[in-house]
Amino acid sequence: MNILRPITIGGQEFKNRVLFPPLTTGYEDKDGTINEQSRAFYTRLAKGGVGYIVLGDVAPIPSFAVTPKLYDDSQIECFRKLADNVHAHGAKLGVQIFHPEYNSEVLNALFAAGKMEEVRSQLHHDMDHFVNEVMPETLDQIIDKMCACALRAQQAGVDVVSIHGDRLVGALCSPIMNTRSDEFGGSLENRTRFALMLVKAMKAAVPDMVIEYKLPVITPERGKGGVSIDEAPIFAQWLEQAGVDMLHVAQANHTGNMADTIPPMGVQPYCFFADITALVKSVVSIPVSTSGRIIDPAMSEELLNEGKADMVGIGRALLADPDWVNKTLAGRPQDIIRCIGCNEGCVDTVLNRSFIACVVNAENGFEAVRFITPAEQRKKVVVIGGGACWLRGCSCGCY
Ligand SMILES: Cc1cc2nc3c(=O)[nH]c(=O)nc-3n(C[C@H](O)[C@H](O)[C@H](O)COP(=O)(O)O)c2cc1C
Repeated sequence: MNILRPITIGGQEFKNRVLFPPLTTGYEDKDGTINEQSRAFYTRLAKGGVGYIVLGDVAPIPSFAVTPKLYDDSQIECFRKLADNVHAHGAKLGVQIFHPEYNSEVLNALFAAGKMEEVRSQLHHDMDHFVNEVMPETLDQIIDKMCACALRAQQAGVDVVSIHGDRLVGALCSPIMNTRSDEFGGSLENRTRFALMLVKAMKAAVPDMVIEYKLPVITPERGKGGVSIDEAPIFAQWLEQAGVDMLHVAQANHTGNMADTIPPMGVQPYCFFADITALVKSVVSIPVSTSGRIIDPAMSEELLNEGKADMVGIGRALLADPDWVNKTLAGRPQDIIRCIGCNEGCVDTVLNRSFIACVVNAENGFEAVRFITPAEQRKKVVVIGGGACWLRGCSCGCY
């Protein structure tokens, strides 16, 4: 199968074409440390055969948000441990570096003082206005911090630095959110200036790392962060020229409606970003991946066979079954536990400041401590009340 074939990107060989896209998990410690829970989760994915794993939303600054953080040299060690564990199973590791679309210093200070009402109101203001208020000098400093973060990732043995094209970067690129009148606003060239400056700075800071860019595309139906569908092919070519080694074309996750990016069952068709990805892929020569409701090997294979993508991102479906790749390799795709798109154990829990724990995989989130093994003694068991109702909000209508 094509999805199981290796691929070379930026001079590095990835053992197959299945990637775990960036998903904020809520597993890390409050200071962003990769703890045992986080390490066990990603290691389990690597053990299950995934070729490339991306750590979502890694912050280059201290922040109150529940994401991994890599802003100080003392944090390198925990990333090194993670990289070693993932590499032991033959997978590559990437960190998705982002900068929030808010004034983190102001918000951190309010959060530390416990002024939660003010945190909420400042956040609300910044999500719409920071992109237009941030000074060019501050943008330069943000690039320096993101590059310093990439350098630490390189020191930790991470293979790929993935630039998050949403959040602040996507807000600046956006024809909807960016209303600036300086050199960072207006034309496509101006709106993407910061993104391209960042790519070039990263390339210079970590020349030996593979540089990936998550390219969110705004359509008439969906999204606020990133570039419009007409602009995407032009911007993709500029990104390639600036030194990007691979593109991940997927919906933005933060600056729009959450269901745009992470649609629950029945909201978007399967593989809903595939045609937009194909449009981008047709104009660049670097590998292009996509994600968005791709849940089984047959769908993934079709995307590759049709030439719409070079790699497939399997997010929630890998929470449901981390052995997705190994079962495919073993010729047992029918045994894969399918993601039902309920968003209950992943999206809902993370939004409520807890951690991902998939409702169809009892081990997920507990990979370090919970192991489901075959019963020592076989028994006949009757399950009473095991219908879909317990998922709450699953839209089956029976709850
Ligand atoms: C719980 C959760 C957290 C996410 N966090 C991020 C993130 O930190 N960065 C990002 O770019 N996308 C994030 N996403 C979006 C995913 O990368 C992906 O685009 C989306 O889940 C659709 O793919 P899927 O249908 O295979 O899950 C998140 C998705 C989920 C479910």
